[in-house]
Amino acid sequence: MSRIAVIGGSGFNQLPGLVALGEEDPVTPFGQPSAPIQRGRLADAELLFLSRHGLNHRIPPHRVNYRANLWALKQMGAERVVGLAAVGGIQAPYAPRVLAVPTHLVDYTHGRDQTFHEGGDAGVVHIDFTWPYCEPLRAELLRLGRSLGIDLVDGGTLGVTQGPRLETAAEIRRLERDGCDLVGMTGMPEAALARELGLCYASLAFVVNWAAGKTAREIHFAELEANMAACVAPIQRLLTALVIQEAPTAS
Ligand code: HPA
Repeated sequence: MSRIAVIGGSGFNQLPGLVALGEEDPVTPFGQPSAPIQRGRLADAELLFLSRHGLNHRIPPHRVNYRANLWALKQMGAERVVGLAAVGGIQAPYAPRVLAVPTHLVDYTHGRDQTFHEGGDAGVVHIDFTWPYCEPLRAELLRLGRSLGIDLVDGGTLGVTQGPRLETAAEIRRLERDGCDLVGMTGMPEAALARELGLCYASLAFVVNWAAGKTAREIHFAELEANMAACVAPIQRLLTALVIQEAPTAS
């Protein structure tokens, strides 16, 4: 059974190098996941892969069924989940093409289904979320990155905005005052739902642009795509190393 799952976002609708072993389209009490979940092999080790925005990148961040995605991965045996996230950089160390493993988040999203526990007869459930990411998985990613010579920034606060539009310069100044180093649109409620299910979840963020107002220019999408493309190879190497040592070898 696969224990590692990867949720791919922008730039990762597919996982390069993944050899397909099959796919499942599980039904969950919360509806359909964004796409069929692929069971596959990276360098002979098994993992699960789910495209967060669907197969042809058709689901915007605010319409992703985060509950179905996490529930389906858990149902298929995932124990550890790496959420890939294309993000904007706010603070100096988080320049375009930098990879980072954040430690904190601030949630600015609204109207998304934030919990599996909607009260009523089933009761109210609270979770501790002081540290939103799974520290052992964070540490593992950082250790592997170091051993492979891949530069990874350890830590940082991810501000999660509603999207799908990018932020105004004033909004980024506000995030900066709030202590955010990075900004993305999909980190929540994904991390909280993973915690509710007892999944060990970490975000692997890759910076594809300076956030709004951090340069004198507007954000150009061609640049964003070029930066995204440059992050694919190191992320693929890192994930391969992770699954090789964590996942049981496929039979
Ligand atoms: N803001 C929000 N989400 C993003 C950005 C950004 O600048 N870049 C990539 N995802």
